[in-house]
Amino acid sequence: MLVTSAEILSDAQKNKYAVGAFNVENMDMILAVMKAAEETKSPIIMETSTGTLKYAGPEVYFAMIKAVAEHSSIPVACHLDHGNTFGIAIRAFKAGYTSIMIDGSKLSFGENISLTKSVVEVCHAGGIPVEAELGRVGGKEDDLDNTHETNPFTDPEEAVEFVSRTNCDFLAIAIGTAHGVYKGIPQINFDVLNKIHNALSIPLVLHGTSGVPDDQVIQAVSMGMCKVNYATDLRIAFTNGIKAYMQEKPEGFDPKKYCAYGIEEVRKYVVDRMRVIGSCNKA
Ligand code: G3H
Ligand code: ZN
Repeated sequence: MLVTSAEILSDAQKNKYAVGAFNVENMDMILAVMKAAEETKSPIIMETSTGTLKYAGPEVYFAMIKAVAEHSSIPVACHLDHGNTFGIAIRAFKAGYTSIMIDGSKLSFGENISLTKSVVEVCHAGGIPVEAELGRVGGKEDDLDNTHETNPFTDPEEAVEFVSRTNCDFLAIAIGTAHGVYKGIPQINFDVLNKIHNALSIPLVLHGTSGVPDDQVIQAVSMGMCKVNYATDLRIAFTNGIKAYMQEKPEGFDPKKYCAYGIEEVRKYVVDRMRVIGSCNKA
């Protein structure tokens, strides 16, 4: 069933587990994530980034996610990931998305507040929660390139002011993770996480989780992370499945057959992530 992310994340916060927010790029990945959620009885957030929405619009993704969600009793939220303008956030909201992220983290503190506030006002009027971001998660998320940033951590005092002035529902914080494939082993700054968790009462969001060692993810969840985002590893899993099919059957030409391999790889990866973040049997 299609629900808002607020419904999903308030239960996660109350019961101290995290929900996976999985980036989907096409129908096949949507089917794979849904299969994993059914199998593990996990609530889920399916999300599309601003870059993905250039491939197909939010209306297309929303229709597909809604269709699979409504054929299931699992709570599913359809989330805009890293919306970077008022326009794209409102387009996704109008398309029916049940959760919106506005990412003004590249702007100044004041500009981030005004952009976030403007999106919150519209979305809240329609009963839709908003995730915002403060601090800079490094790396490259589709077209949003933060590779040249010094990756500063979110300041706990600024976080308190930001949340009270914007009224956002969830906050993505920079604590040492980065988007994309890591060159070394990432190290989450648990001290910053602890300070922010103690200072705020809203659910916190971890970005750039592909490639973060399981023990760090588990610790972050135990310290208040409620939404954990995975994108890169799903893309890799889907592509690896198709490559494996093509190696086995180089003469293959039926998308249903090679995409089935991609679906299976994504399903296995997502089931594994759900076990790590503790969302199994919470639906
Ligand atoms: O917003 C999406 C996530 O932060 C994904 O990061 O590609 O490193 O898994 P990732
Ligand atoms: Zn992200």
